[in-house]
Parts: sequence; C-alpha cells; structure tokens
Amino acid sequence: MTTAARKLGAERGPALAHGEFDVQRIRADFPILQKKIRGKPLVYLDNAATSQKPRAVIDALVRYYEESNSNVHRGVHYLSERATEEFEGARRTAQRFLNAASPHEIIFVRGTTEGINLVAHSYGRSHIGAGDEVLITGMEHHSNIVPWQMLCKEKGATLRAAPINDDGELIFEEFAKLLGPKTRLVGITHISNALGTVNPVRKIIELAHSRNVPVLVDGAQAVPHQSVDVQALDCDFYVFSGHKVFGPTGIGVLYGKSALLEAMPPYQGGGDMIRSVTFEKTVYNHLPYKFEAGTPDISGAIGLAAALDYITGIGLDKIAAYEHDVLEYATRAVSAIPGVRLIGTAREKAGVLSFLIGDVHPHDIGTILDQQGIAIRTGHHCSQPVMERFNIPATARASLALYNTKEEIDALVRGIGKVREVFA
Ligand code: ALA
Repeated sequence: MTTAARKLGAERGPALAHGEFDVQRIRADFPILQKKIRGKPLVYLDNAATSQKPRAVIDALVRYYEESNSNVHRGVHYLSERATEEFEGARRTAQRFLNAASPHEIIFVRGTTEGINLVAHSYGRSHIGAGDEVLITGMEHHSNIVPWQMLCKEKGATLRAAPINDDGELIFEEFAKLLGPKTRLVGITHISNALGTVNPVRKIIELAHSRNVPVLVDGAQAVPHQSVDVQALDCDFYVFSGHKVFGPTGIGVLYGKSALLEAMPPYQGGGDMIRSVTFEKTVYNHLPYKFEAGTPDISGAIGLAAALDYITGIGLDKIAAYEHDVLEYATRAVSAIPGVRLIGTAREKAGVLSFLIGDVHPHDIGTILDQQGIAIRTGHHCSQPVMERFNIPATARASLALYNTKEEIDALVRGIGKVREVFA
C-alpha cells in the first residue's frame, strides 16, 4: 500500500483501507461485538431497537469529558469556547450528513420521538385547527401516531391513516385519496421499524407539495442504512435518533426548512432559547437556539458527530449494498424454514426481518435464541396498528446493521431450528 493510500485508509477508518467493504474490519471497530453472551459469540440482531457503538464514538465521548467538558454558549473561558466549538461542529456534521442548506436547520433533540413532539406542539398547534386533518400511514411507529393523536384531540382535528397491503407496502392510491383539502400535514416513516418497508418518500412529498401540504419524515430506521439528502427529498421536516445510527442515546436531530422553523413558536422555555427576558416579556433567540432550551446534550452531539463521520467514511451507498445482500440472504434462508411466516414482504425493504414460527409465541422464540447468544426483539415493536393489520399480537424481529454477517444469519437459522425442536 502506498503512503497516500495508507493515509486515506487511516482517515476513513480501518474498514476502508482497501476501498472495499470489509465487514471483519468493521466488526473490529465495535468492542461489544467481541463479547461472549451466555458462553456464545454475541450475534446482535436488534439494531432497529438500538445499534452498537464503534470505538470512534466511545473515544469521542471520553475525550470530550477528559479534555473539553464545559457548558456551551455561555462562558468566555477556554473550555467553554472549546466545548461550544465542538458542539457547533457536531451541528455542521449533521448538516452535511443530511445535506441541509444551513446548520441552523439542525435542531438537537433527545431523539426521533422528541423531534416529532416538537413539530406537533410548535408547528401543529399553530397550523392545525378544528376540522383539519393530519395524514399518516398504517405502518407508523407509535411516536409518529400518538403526538398527532394528542394534537388532533386538543384541536378537534382528525388523524387519518393510509392503509397498507398484505406485503406491508403503502397503498399509494389510497394515500392519494386521503390527502384531501383538509389535510394540513403528512407524517410518514421513511423505513418501517416493524416491517422494513422502504416508503417512496420522494413521490409522497411531491404529491403532498402539489397540494401545499408539508411533510415530516421519520428517518429513525433509514439513516443507519442509506444516504439521505433532505434537499433532494424536499421534505419539510426530517427526524432521526443518534442511538440507532451508532451514536449515543439521548441525542437526535430534527431538520426543518428555515422558513418553517423561523415562523414556528418555541417548544420549551428556558435558558439559551432567549435573547432577553424581563418579567413582562421574552424575546426569543434565533435559530436553532430558539428550540434548544436548557443545557443541551453536549457530549451526545459530539458522539453523534463521531458516529456520522464513521459511517460517512465507510460510505452509505456501500453500507446499503452490503446490507441489501445480507437481507436477501436472510430472507431466503429464514423463509425456507418450514412453519416460518415472514411479516413484511415489500419489494423495497431494508434492515428488518419480522417473522413468526408456527404458533410459537415470539417471546419464546426470543428467549430460546438468547440462550444461544442471539439478540433479537420480540413484541409489537411500538407499532400496534401494524400488528392489528396482520391480525397478530407480536413478531420476532431480526434487524441488521453494517456489521452483521451471513455467518450470523446462519446462526439465526440454526437458532430457529432449536426453537422448532423445542416446540415440535
Ligand atoms: N423503535 C425501536 C424499535 O423498533 C425501539 O425497536
């Protein structure tokens, strides 16, 4: 390897030293993946719930607390200036990651849930009134249902959900019919956490905009798996959580178009979101600080930026192609097992394999797999309407990340074999 190539490899992280997607080198970046669970190598297939963290993220958190810890936007002293620079640098990293037009369109929040609640409280309360409608889909996570339900109840508005078909795909014609003159906002998941369906968000946004309806996209399950360009999508709001994209818990991003955010009232009151306060009147701060009351999660934002740099260095297109291959392999292998039923068979899918085995309860599947060191999630995945649509109480869900391998899928298949033996 030439010195230049070695230097490029070092900058991008060890995983790309040869410009290839080298999953073993990626795995070596994640300390927890070297662990044994119940005496067996960990097979972590619960990435839709939360992802594991690479050394780069863990180091960024430690470095921040050892070398830069201080409050932001407040001090004139060295550490405060340094923490502020790192925190604002993290905002610029998130801006580049989403290709937002400006860093002030990036609001740091606790996660996807808080981002959606912020939009519901601020934009929703000022733009949605009695008789209006909010349109979502039948595959939303509870966090993209309940905030709108609460808003609709308060305002006398109606929440509508466009139906999904037996494969777990949005029925676009039905969505188009429901997008009517009373619709004031569309909220749609980019990728379903329970089914893995990838929604045609660009097409949905185009249609909604042709009727002057803004669109919020829940990107929690999308950003770890594929590149996202909010300007190309032309979405009005985009939200994601740090912990699902290899960053820390308790931090996430709300992207909003400047013009919308400028016109929106603050969500929470407190320090940092003000320009001046008297007992008579408060003048609010400019973007993005108007929406960031109180001391933010400084280390979280810095850790998130390290995570975004990490996956950007590997390349989201490479990650998407690799995961697609593993998902196809998993789909073929798991669906070939007698008695297995896949829930979610959309043509466009990413990251998720939800399944049932005969009439075995998914919690039993999860427990038996756990005894073999295999971590999956079982339950309704915070998507009860999806379970209702398929007339089932729960599923077992294996969800992928860039570090999963086909050998791990083989382990899952052997694990499912054990479940079948136990319940034969
Ligand atoms: N929303 C997360 C999941 O799908 C917690 O598991």
